[in-house]
Amino acid sequence: MKVLRKAFNQPLDPAVTKFVSSVADDKHLIAADVNGSLAHVAMLEKVGLLTATQATNLIDGLSKIKDEAYNGTFELIEEFEDVHMNVEKKLEEIIGPDAKLLHTARSRNDQVALDMRLYVLEQIATINWQIKAICSVLTEQANAHVETIMPGYTHLQPAQPVTLGHVLNAFIEMLKRDAERFEDCQKRTACSPLGAGAIAGSSLPIAPQVSAEVLGFNKTFANSIDAVMDRDFVAEFVFACSLTAVHLSQLAETMIIWCTNEFGFVTFSDAVTTTSSLMPQKKNPDPIEIVRGKVGTVCGDLLNLLITLKGLPVGYNRDLQETKPPAINSSNTIIDALKVMSLALSEMSVNADNMQKAVSNPELYATDVLEYLVNKGMAFRAAHETVAEVVAHAREKSLSLTQLPIADYKTYSGLFAEDVFDLFDPKLSVSNKKSPGGAGQMMNARP
Ligand code: ARG
Repeated sequence: MKVLRKAFNQPLDPAVTKFVSSVADDKHLIAADVNGSLAHVAMLEKVGLLTATQATNLIDGLSKIKDEAYNGTFELIEEFEDVHMNVEKKLEEIIGPDAKLLHTARSRNDQVALDMRLYVLEQIATINWQIKAICSVLTEQANAHVETIMPGYTHLQPAQPVTLGHVLNAFIEMLKRDAERFEDCQKRTACSPLGAGAIAGSSLPIAPQVSAEVLGFNKTFANSIDAVMDRDFVAEFVFACSLTAVHLSQLAETMIIWCTNEFGFVTFSDAVTTTSSLMPQKKNPDPIEIVRGKVGTVCGDLLNLLITLKGLPVGYNRDLQETKPPAINSSNTIIDALKVMSLALSEMSVNADNMQKAVSNPELYATDVLEYLVNKGMAFRAAHETVAEVVAHAREKSLSLTQLPIADYKTYSGLFAEDVFDLFDPKLSVSNKKSPGGAGQMMNARP
C-alpha cells in the first residue's frame, strides 16, 4: 500500500498489494463506510475532539463521497488497500488537512467491523422485503386454490388428499421462519463496535454510545477485543441465507417435479422458461433449476465462513477480511433467487384436472377408512391391520377399494357398512381433516 508506510524502507510488493487488497469486495461497503465515518465525526465533535468547523468540513467532504458512492462513481484504488484508506485519501483531496482528523480514536479494525454490520443490516432489510414479496405471491396462489385437491406426498408416493393451497401454505411457513431468523440476527448485528479502536479502546475521551445512537443502534460493544473480532453476526446471517436457500431449493424441486410431463400439475410462463439449443420443442424450467442449484454456493459460503473463523487467536486478525466474500455472495444470491422464484410463481398456471386425477386412486383414502373404524370404536393398531388386509385382498382380486363389495369388507370387520364408500370423496376427505393446522383448515374456513 502506498499510504501508511513511513516506517518502512521498501514499497509493498505489487503482487502482495493485489493479494491483500479488499477493494473488490469493498465496493459494496462504500456507503456503509461513509455512514460510519459520519457517526464517528458526530461523536468526536460532541466530546470536543473536533471543533464545529472541523466537523462541518469533514461532514461536507464525506457527504460528497457518499453521493459518489450512490451514483456509482466512487472509484476504489487497489494500492490504497481498502475502502477505509480510499475514503480517507479522497477526503483529503476534497477538504484538505482536516481529513487527517477523521481517524482520531479509530482503527480500521473497529471501522470494518462496523461496515460489515451496516452492510448486513441493509441486506437483511432487502431480503426480508423480498421474502414478504414471495409470500404474498404464494398467498395469492394459495387463496386461488383452496379447493384444488391434489395428493399430499410422503416418500414422493401419493399419501393422502390435500389442497394446493395447503401445500403452498407450507412453504409460506418456512419462509416466515426464515424472515424471523433474519430479524433475530438483526438484533445482535445492530450493536456498534465503534470506539473499540484496534483492540483496546482509546485514552482519548470518546463516547461510543454517541456514535451508536447516531447510527440508530441501541447497543455498543461491552468488550473492545470482542468488538473487533466478532463476526458471529456474519455467520448467523449467512446461516439464515443458507436455510432460506434450502427452502427455496425445496420449493424449486417441488415445482420442477410438478411441471414435468409425467406430473403435469403446473406450467410456467415463457418469461421463466428456456429452450434447448438442439431440441426446438423443449420448454425447460432452467431458472428454477438454478434456484435449486444455488443452495450449493450459499451453503458453501457458510462453510467457507465458519472455517475462516475457526482457530483464530483472540484479537483482530486479517483473516477476518475473508468474511466479506461469503457474506456478499450469499446475500446477492438469495436476493436474486427470491426474485426469480417470485416471478416464476406469479406466472405459474395450475392444471387442476391433472391434480384431481392424481387423487382418484381409492388407495389414497385408506387412512380415511382406518379413521372410520377408529370412530366406530376399533383400536387404531387393529384398524390399521384391518384396512391393510382389506387393501391386500382388493389388490389380490384386482379390484379397487371402491369396487370391492361391502360383503368382502364385512369379512374383515363387522363395523363396516355401506357408508364406507362415501369416504372416497376428495373434498370430504380434505374437509374431514379438521384437526388444527390440518389439510381441511383452509377449505373449512371458507364462508
Ligand atoms: N482491509 C481490512 C478488512 O477488509 C481492514 C482492516 C485492516 N486492519 C489492519 N490492521 N490491517 O478487513
